[in-house]
Amino acid sequence: MAWRMLGRATKDRKAAFRTPVLASVSDAGPQARVLVLRAVDADRRQLIFHTDTRSGKAGQLGADDRVAATFYDAHRKIQLRINGVAQLHTDDALADQQWRDASPNALRCFSGPVPAAPCALPSDHDGIEATRTTVAAGREFFAVLSVDIGQLEWLYLHTHGQRRALFCWHEEQWKMQWLNP
Ligand SMILES: Cc1cc2nc3c(=O)[nH]c(=O)nc-3n(C[C@H](O)[C@H](O)[C@H](O)COP(=O)(O)O)c2cc1C
Repeated sequence: MAWRMLGRATKDRKAAFRTPVLASVSDAGPQARVLVLRAVDADRRQLIFHTDTRSGKAGQLGADDRVAATFYDAHRKIQLRINGVAQLHTDDALADQQWRDASPNALRCFSGPVPAAPCALPSDHDGIEATRTTVAAGREFFAVLSVDIGQLEWLYLHTHGQRRALFCWHEEQWKMQWLNP
């Protein structure tokens, strides 16, 4: 069920699991932010995101690749907490494929200025339609952030009793254990 919900979120912009919070570890403590879930590969136990190589998270993952992702579907009352190991792909087949398959609009930020650098009040959107040509310069800063899932915790909120289950990847298979909520 969790994989189905994750898979659906990659296709449905309105799906609750579309925008999880991904946390990384920095010298200054934990850092968490919302990212769009771009793809899911259940066989590889992998989540796929896009990010900028110049971003804070890219630097943090270079120093410590452990991440946590949290998803919540308020309608279904399901929370998913995922722990895994992240990898940045800038120059491989996966990065090329994700760049190719993404819409120009989703890629326009990568040709913008350095994220998080101080700036004057940014001007409004220039109104220029993003095309493959206008976003091309951003390929240099585009990265796929993959997360290899090691542990997944599923929590179902219900008035008549909650359900909490832990799935751990162990010796090449998932081990499941119910937990007290
Ligand atoms: C709805 C939503 C979707 C976002 N999607 C992405 C995304 O797919 N990739 C990304 O790098 N940042 C995305 N962001 C911006 C991040 O939350 C964050 O502000 C940015 O990546 C800088 O984070 P960092 O300084 O920790 O690297 C999104 C923000 C929101 C609110």
